[in-house]
Amino acid sequence: MENMELEVLEKATTKDLKQKLREKVLRLKKERNATIVAHNYQNVEVQEVADILGDSLALSKAALGTGADVVVFCGVDFMAETAKILNPEKTVILPVREADCPMALMVTGERLRQKKKEYPNAAVVCYVNSSAEVKAESDIACTSANAIPIVKSLPHKQIIFVPDKNLGHWVQRFCPEKEIILWQGFCTTHIRVTAQDILNAKEKYPNAPFIAHPECPPDVLDLADHVCSTSGFSSYIGKSKADTFIIGTEVGMIFKLKKDHPAKRLIMPTEQFVCQTMKMTTLGWVAHALEVMEHKIEIPEDIRRRAEKTLWRMMDISKDHPNAVIASY
Ligand code: 13P
Ligand code: SF4
Repeated sequence: MENMELEVLEKATTKDLKQKLREKVLRLKKERNATIVAHNYQNVEVQEVADILGDSLALSKAALGTGADVVVFCGVDFMAETAKILNPEKTVILPVREADCPMALMVTGERLRQKKKEYPNAAVVCYVNSSAEVKAESDIACTSANAIPIVKSLPHKQIIFVPDKNLGHWVQRFCPEKEIILWQGFCTTHIRVTAQDILNAKEKYPNAPFIAHPECPPDVLDLADHVCSTSGFSSYIGKSKADTFIIGTEVGMIFKLKKDHPAKRLIMPTEQFVCQTMKMTTLGWVAHALEVMEHKIEIPEDIRRRAEKTLWRMMDISKDHPNAVIASY
């Protein structure tokens, strides 16, 4: 067979297979009374079958409101754990067990307990990108959408902020009244963009605003026109008159942004912006997860209860800050 024919055949088979998988997911979803929740960084094929798509804060809230018996969480493990902490009576499934967040693994309950002994007067704020055990050891959680108002809401001067040093550093800029004790964790995806990548993109597209996620390094954030959570990107583009934007976050965002703003031009400053573990979840794994009901998230009840308090304190405060945008720089 000619190469061209093979290519056409392959495309048709892939399309057919995708369609069959999509139908299977929709059928099983109904049978199981399940909701599919997906983070903005998920593969396009997964975003397309999701009932709810959003940033970590939106997904934490969405997990609460669903009437489903089963939540299939397409994202990374801490997100599915958060859904289980808030919905202990529901079955929460992470389609790929290995889909973890390397940054969340950079802090453990044990190491945090030691740090708390060093700073007995400090409050502990944990980024939601952390394990259930770390949440249980913390006073309050935050996401990239509400980190500044959460830190400001605390009466403490000293704040141990775990695990993202870049988000912690960003928060410190807006909270000079606080002493933020940074943990040395970082996002293995956002750390890969450099200030030079942004300068190159700005040279090519001088009128394009640069929107950045606060997990980017400080010298990259210095160049940003706007810093926000993943959902904040869409609201910013919606309000801006510009026609081209430099996107400072994971490539999965492009699909949603293109869908929300088809007339706008979106530029990725580097091809390095790929979160490998977010990309592990495929349509095939979602279908498999619903079929065999794996992998169920289980959390020891004493840890779950303590972690739930930490998340609820965040929810109570972020009621006043429903918008994903945290700050303009
Ligand atoms: P958001 O809360 O902004 O969606 O970010 C989650 C995340 O993992 C970013 O890397
Ligand atoms: Fe974790 Fe970074 Fe991937 Fe987000 S993008 S899940 S913080 S490694």
